[in-house]
Amino acid sequence: MKLQGKTALVTGSAQGIGQAIAIRLAQEGADIIVDDRALGQSAQETADAITALGRRVHMIQGDLANTEDDRRVIAEGVEKMGKIDILVNNAGVEKHADFWDVTEKDFDFVLQINLRGTFFITQDFVNHLRATNRPGRVINISSVHEELPFPHFSTYCASKGALKMLCRDLAVELGPLGITVNNIAPGAIATPINTALLNNPQLLALLESKIPLGRLGKPEDVSGLAAFLASDDASYVTGATFVVDGGLLHNYHEQ
Ligand code: BGC
Repeated sequence: MKLQGKTALVTGSAQGIGQAIAIRLAQEGADIIVDDRALGQSAQETADAITALGRRVHMIQGDLANTEDDRRVIAEGVEKMGKIDILVNNAGVEKHADFWDVTEKDFDFVLQINLRGTFFITQDFVNHLRATNRPGRVINISSVHEELPFPHFSTYCASKGALKMLCRDLAVELGPLGITVNNIAPGAIATPINTALLNNPQLLALLESKIPLGRLGKPEDVSGLAAFLASDDASYVTGATFVVDGGLLHNYHEQ
């Protein structure tokens, strides 16, 4: 087990990629703080899976869009678990809209969670590490769309492009503190963020035809990389984006 004695906070871990990462880090020996906007049945399932692995778990409700919540999530996590070593910034949302129709409300919704929330919860985490004079790991779940255009998702692309630069910038600024910062950029993964797509057989087939490995990813296709980045094996890895997309990003054909 690579993460014995570590505590990880995974935002948005009630479902999808966040849930798989929380469980995978627990399999590697970490205690876990499960955080989500709403703590319903699926958050409880994440927590139960972690408990069944013999790890400690604490659940916290927090809306990333609210910086007071971000502060409270870190403070409460530290209070209940004693410390936090690993922050996985997984929570994210997207809104489909033609660019000319994007409302300020939708813009704020996406940017406040994907960028502003990630920014300030990371700041709170880094201040916890500074106060306790300890190294740490930041792993952002970005997207292939930190690189690849995604027409009709301009707010999402703007937020993920910003995460790409934030990762590089923080890796340089926080390196001297022993804090590594890396991005995982998933492609099309079958999770609730893709519900509309998953329910549209035509769109789904079109997307699959563009993925060299011929299928959508599963949350578990992403979680092993997060475990690696959180582990000592990755202690010299920082400021990098790791794509997990079945080959989607660089797929180009003339025929
Ligand atoms: C988005 C999905 C999209 C996938 C591949 C992800 O970041 O959340 O909606 O299907 O990228 O384009």
